[in-house]
Amino acid sequence: MFRSIFFYTFAYVFLTVISSGCTGENKVKSADENLSIKNTVDDTHSFGDNSTARIKHLKLNLKADFQSSILSGSATLFFDKNDADTLFLDSRDLKIDSIVSKGLVKNYIIDKPVEFLGSKISIPTAGLADSVKIYYETSPQAAAIQWLTPEQTSGKKHPFLYTQGQAILTRSWIPIQDSPGIRFTYTANIEVPKELMALMSAENPQKLNSEGKYHFTMDKAIPAYLVALAIGELRFKSFDKRSGVYAEPDLLKSAAYEFVETPAMIKSAESLYGPYEWERYDILVLPPAFPFGGMENPRLTFATPTVLAGDRSLANLIAHELAHSWSGNLVTNATWNDFWLNEGFTVYFERRIVEEVKSKDYADVNSIIGRNDLDNAFKDFGNKGDETKLLLELEGKDPDDGMNDVAYEKGYLFLVMLEKAFGRQDLDVFLKNYFQEYKFKSITTSVFEVYLYKHFPPAELDKLKVKEWLYQAGLPDNAPIFESKLFAAVDTEKPKLLDGSSKLNFKDWEFNQWLYFLRMIDGNASIDQMNSMDKRYGFSTSSNSEIQAIWLQDNINLKNTSVNSSVDQFLGRVGRRKFLMPLYEALVSSGQKDVAVKIYNKHRDSYHSVSQNSLDRLLRK
Ligand code: BES
Ligand code: ZN
Repeated sequence: MFRSIFFYTFAYVFLTVISSGCTGENKVKSADENLSIKNTVDDTHSFGDNSTARIKHLKLNLKADFQSSILSGSATLFFDKNDADTLFLDSRDLKIDSIVSKGLVKNYIIDKPVEFLGSKISIPTAGLADSVKIYYETSPQAAAIQWLTPEQTSGKKHPFLYTQGQAILTRSWIPIQDSPGIRFTYTANIEVPKELMALMSAENPQKLNSEGKYHFTMDKAIPAYLVALAIGELRFKSFDKRSGVYAEPDLLKSAAYEFVETPAMIKSAESLYGPYEWERYDILVLPPAFPFGGMENPRLTFATPTVLAGDRSLANLIAHELAHSWSGNLVTNATWNDFWLNEGFTVYFERRIVEEVKSKDYADVNSIIGRNDLDNAFKDFGNKGDETKLLLELEGKDPDDGMNDVAYEKGYLFLVMLEKAFGRQDLDVFLKNYFQEYKFKSITTSVFEVYLYKHFPPAELDKLKVKEWLYQAGLPDNAPIFESKLFAAVDTEKPKLLDGSSKLNFKDWEFNQWLYFLRMIDGNASIDQMNSMDKRYGFSTSSNSEIQAIWLQDNINLKNTSVNSSVDQFLGRVGRRKFLMPLYEALVSSGQKDVAVKIYNKHRDSYHSVSQNSLDRLLRK
């Protein structure tokens, strides 16, 4: 049964009134009043602040009902009291049925929801055991969860479910302290329809359980945003003893082909920055609605099927998500303001892996494409915009809105700058120590800064403008610059490609060269030129989703309305935000907002909430 959002709004208000009525003398302190006892990092995006009672372990018990699109069951939270008299939790659109500790807990409070943060739950801990069990169910609109119809899968026979926790969405399926600064271990019992397999960011099954009952253990402490669940018709194929891939049956073979470099990538990563700490590294290929390229859920990277290009040309995505097993999952940004600590380090690490497993050329080409992304971000935000800082100030904002390419590519350039200044060998020693020192910890930018200053001579770091890099807007003038002979060749050939005199065949270039070429068109071609290039090189039917997307974007920018039906199809099939945004934006900026809105209205229901949010802002304000 489908319950409307009004039901849940009513449920909050009702519960808030009822439970407020019960508290009387048990007045609960607000997070602000608790400021005086804070001894650790303050995360403005979580009510479960780090200095009050803190969760250590989670025991989940959930059943997935695909008819009603509801997960229901319980979450038992084990916590350290930490001198606090109240346990604060995050929740969003959850229907809390009851809370039990030594007996039924009556004096808890659920606050009214705050936009994108959800509702604070306050549970006075006096007289409680060291755990509380919360019986609850999720809303069919839970922001983290996407319930997919069989039509949205590859096999078209069975429904599918996956969660996306980062940044602050886990609270919409688990009542929890949803801060990257708070880490806990977990176990879970998940019940699903018998024909489906359940997987989590934990120790995973490799076969179907005939009763549809799955048990999971994650015995390393992780933050809430890394708790993840997927349910679908899935099969497993291993690469070697510690890695493999899960996918729908008809995608398994091509997924295994595409990601076969994974064991080599793990070895390369370990030789750079120390042992892989999570035992297994598996990949799960999701349906195309997945809003990201990849998500680094521990032990089980979630990946878009749009990386299945057939030629391993997009495998740097796996290098990236694997690298997060160190930067992000071992050493975690303590707040979303420090997001660059996750992504900047990961991009650096990704390109080092790619350099070893693929080639230096391939890594350089990615660096240049990354620099192009960064330049575009700077154009959008202005050179001095706050969004161009590494350390962000996201208070009052949805972190998902504040995260952009700057964390990735300015963060990357910062590390390359250090590499060039101190030499690769010394930087590698530093990074290896850094991961060792802070493993299974969540840290801030200033903790990183202090550690950096302990390792390298302070005067030299100052000369390198480290503080400007970390805390100021814009790009410091010592940012490294990349060159590639592969792209120089593109610049030379470009006029001939446009006027049709080029002798080049598609196979003569790597896909990244074509990608770069198509990016550089930027409105400077005629529709006729585009059409004849397409005839010759087949961009519009490329098996590489990056090429397809940029091709469509170029044509929209040139107002070539003959591609509109292909655009419509692409936008109906793919939910990856990185592709959706530029295409819808191009429609708007080329004066076709009405077309964009029409296409969006048709496909909105098929997107995950993170894509919906970004697109609502573009098309529905
Ligand atoms: N952790 C990110 C995805 C993410 C970021 C989710 C912020 C929610 C909020 C992931 O590691 C990532 O960066 N993915 C990229 C991959 C690319 C850089 C190779 C993506 O999805 O495009
Ligand atoms: Zn990442």
